[in-house]
Amino acid sequence: MDIYSIILAAGEGKRMKSNTAKPLQKAGGKALIDHVISAASAVGIKENIVVVGHKADDVKAYLKDSVLYTYQLEQKGTGHAVMQGIEPIKDKEGIVMVLCGDTPLIDGESLKAALKSHINAGRAATVITAIAPNPFGYGRVIRNGEKLTKIVEQKDATPKEAEVSEINSGMYFFDIKKLRHALSRLTNNNAQGEYYLTDTIEILLKDNENVGAEIVDFESILGVNDRIQLAQAEAVLNRRNVERIMLGGVTVINPAATYIGCDVKVGIDTIIYPGTILEGSTAIGCGCIIGPDSKITDTKIGDNTEVIKSVLTKSEVGNNVSVGPFAYMRPNSKVGNNIKIGDFVEIKNANIDDGTKVAHLTYVGDADVGKNVNFGCGTVVVNYDGISKHRTTIGNDVFIGCNTNLVSPVTVKDGAFTAAGSTITDEVPENALAIARAKQVNKEDWVKPKDR
Ligand code: UD1
Ligand code: CA
Repeated sequence: MDIYSIILAAGEGKRMKSNTAKPLQKAGGKALIDHVISAASAVGIKENIVVVGHKADDVKAYLKDSVLYTYQLEQKGTGHAVMQGIEPIKDKEGIVMVLCGDTPLIDGESLKAALKSHINAGRAATVITAIAPNPFGYGRVIRNGEKLTKIVEQKDATPKEAEVSEINSGMYFFDIKKLRHALSRLTNNNAQGEYYLTDTIEILLKDNENVGAEIVDFESILGVNDRIQLAQAEAVLNRRNVERIMLGGVTVINPAATYIGCDVKVGIDTIIYPGTILEGSTAIGCGCIIGPDSKITDTKIGDNTEVIKSVLTKSEVGNNVSVGPFAYMRPNSKVGNNIKIGDFVEIKNANIDDGTKVAHLTYVGDADVGKNVNFGCGTVVVNYDGISKHRTTIGNDVFIGCNTNLVSPVTVKDGAFTAAGSTITDEVPENALAIARAKQVNKEDWVKPKDR
């Protein structure tokens, strides 16, 4: 049987008070709607249909052609949104799953289990519900004994209905034909003057259709309507990610003070100290020590490497490397094995080969550096002439004296030395010593006794 999904993402999300469309707000380093789409994919969906409206262009620009779109030009409620969403599949037979773009904590396993019982029970509709510690704001699931009767929204609930703690998750499975028939009979006769999707449940029950509810853990259905709920979602996603890597053999000293993105991978026996943020596609090897206070984004790190109080972005670092404290690796830096990138060192768009030491207070930008090079303190690769950037090449076994300026484009060949304080503008031949600084002049007795 074919299964389709309709993901509602047209609402304005007023309560967020934001210039960003709500489905594109980030939690766990990804847009809210990304989490929903990945949960849907786990169910094996034939086609994901996303209903867009408010800031539709932004949502489409973000999701590109990974999904099918339908427009809801005016936001007249979730029922009205599904009327638009069902258009592309109106002649199909099968099951449609309806999800909201603002429930990022839903997981594929819960959806799969609910789908299974929807199919096994042969239902026209299955609502996913949960028992909420604080149900305020959610639609309440009203039952007569065990039997479902309807869903009432907060704003339409009687005081007695408002006491019910079972809430509607906003996620459902429907038989496509039966849902269409129910949608055609929706009215907007309610407190918000909207077409509520939730009313289809009562309509189907009145038709004597088989309608059921699947109760899941409240945590997996949290809806993000404001920034407080966004932070709650973030906390849950982070806890899940930190637990995922800990179960994978990583020591996290303080889970609450550690941020791990959904796609981040960390190898066994790595230790992560507090204040560490690992984001995007970052992948860290085994036996590393990361943190405290490091932010590593879209970066690949090998085994037995240490990163302390440093920021690394879109870069690669090999094995047995020591980075920091206070190092900054900007995009496209490639650092090999057995290397030291010490304190107050900035690397940008540079390749640094095995065994090299850049110990302190140095800038290496737009450069190719060979093996076993030693950078003295205070070296600057002068890569920018005010108009364009140029590359510097340094061979193997080079010794760069303290406070050297390497004015790019320039080459220092294998085995060469530069004297401390040199400003190198011309190629340095193999095994040469380049001295490019004024000679010291001592003016004897320049200080007169009366000056003292
Ligand atoms: C909805 C449910 C409520 C449930 C809650 C779960 C209805 C009437 N209410 O309430 O029972 O407990 O979700 O989180 O369904 N949307 C559109 N077009 C619209 C209106 C909304 O696409 O015209 C989209 C929104 O972008 C959002 C989703 O539908 O992704 C839910 O809308 P929202 O306004 O957040 O509904 P809730 O008040 O949370
Ligand atoms: Ca909501």
